[in-house]
Amino acid sequence: MSDDATGRTGRAGGNAPGKPWGGRFREQTAAAVERFSASVHFDRALAHHDIRGSLAHARMLRKAGLLSAEEEAALVAGLERIEAELADGSFALDPALEDIHMNVESRLRELVGDAAGRLHTGRSRNDQVATDLLLYLRDAARAAERGLHELRRVLQLRAAEHLDTVLPGYTHLQRAQPVRLAHHWLAFVEMFGRDAERFRDLRGRLRLSPLGSGALAGSTLPLDREFTARELGFDAPTRNSMDAVASRDAGLEFLAATAIASVQLSRLAEELVLWSTAEFGFVELADAYATGSSLMPQKKNPDVPELVRGKAGRTIGNLVTLLTVMKGLPLTYNRDLQEDKEPIFDSATTLRDCLEVTSGAIATLRVDTARMRDAAQDPMLLATDLAEALVREGVAFREAHEAVGRVVGHCVEKDLDLRALSREDLRAFHGAFPAAAGELLSLERALEERALPGGTARATVAAALERAELEIRASLEALDAEGPA
Ligand code: ARG
Repeated sequence: MSDDATGRTGRAGGNAPGKPWGGRFREQTAAAVERFSASVHFDRALAHHDIRGSLAHARMLRKAGLLSAEEEAALVAGLERIEAELADGSFALDPALEDIHMNVESRLRELVGDAAGRLHTGRSRNDQVATDLLLYLRDAARAAERGLHELRRVLQLRAAEHLDTVLPGYTHLQRAQPVRLAHHWLAFVEMFGRDAERFRDLRGRLRLSPLGSGALAGSTLPLDREFTARELGFDAPTRNSMDAVASRDAGLEFLAATAIASVQLSRLAEELVLWSTAEFGFVELADAYATGSSLMPQKKNPDVPELVRGKAGRTIGNLVTLLTVMKGLPLTYNRDLQEDKEPIFDSATTLRDCLEVTSGAIATLRVDTARMRDAAQDPMLLATDLAEALVREGVAFREAHEAVGRVVGHCVEKDLDLRALSREDLRAFHGAFPAAAGELLSLERALEERALPGGTARATVAAALERAELEIRASLEALDAEGPA
């Protein structure tokens, strides 16, 4: 226990000096326990939200007649001062005071004296921390939503540049059918759009304020929970005080949405890694988004997408951490719940950083359109179309597939270009082939004939680009309209 902490909290602490709960204690806390249980080195991330919550609580206490106007004014001024100290870095956090809540309260006592002791009226750290966390999650989910839409905008812009860039689409990482690069990247625009929606949905469930739930059973004091709920931007108070202090499913949902988004990001990252190999040679990362080797002077390494791929391990781990912490916890608050914070903060910043560097890497990526087209020229990518030509002649698809399979086998064996086969060559495999392969098959036809909704035909993709552009713009505008975070 530092003297500083003792001095700060004045009378509080009884024989466990410095502790607001020290009254019934006869001995000091062991140093190892203080280190073990302190959370202020990470829950300082809640400082801003904690002060917001305290400001709302102070105003409410005054309205409820539990504070005088002078006390309220002193508390508000003190809290605002602490907010400024946090912003300019002059607020010194003391681990002996356990967490951010007690650090703020202790500093408040230094600043405003006895009035500080009234701020905790009708409030427990249990409802306080639950409230802070929801406020934090609201901001973090909104930031994630915005970051995802910003990445979507970058992908949409790059896709629009590459409406006529053709590359093989893959299944099993084997060349499958030709697609437009725009179509390929718009797939990620869809994926990240759903990720953004998950955060938005979550925000829609962060609407009830835990403040006023007390330690677990509410309060005997005439608190105005409706008032604090509104002050903090919630719709209403939570409906059950025990649920309010015991639940962390909003955190779990945030971690799940973050893990899913990270996993989807890691797939885009993996393609950047693969595509920038000499073997693919489809893209080159800008120097600003690549790194060199300390040993091999020729190397340009895709560390940025590799790290994005690797970070998915962290965010998945964070989800599993909190699921495991929560499993089997009896109601209501248990100190285990303090373990919710590091995974949540870590996932929030990890996703934010991944989105930022991925947006930058995609925005600056050099695309080798000739290499892509060369790879897409592989005539075998048109084999399905040959089978579908037979289907148009009335042949059952299974029968057509089998016949074209034999044609392909023949071409592989004799090292022939599928497109070079004459009508007669083809008819040796099935009597219904209507024309020479060269007349039935081409890369352009393969793309253009896929004009169903969701397909890779030029007009279809052009329309999809336009729809994506409008939708992303509307999403970003809706976020802007919510005002500053
Ligand atoms: N630091 C604590 C947490 O994060 C705050 C709540 C402490 N409550 C308590 N009953 N010890 O969970």
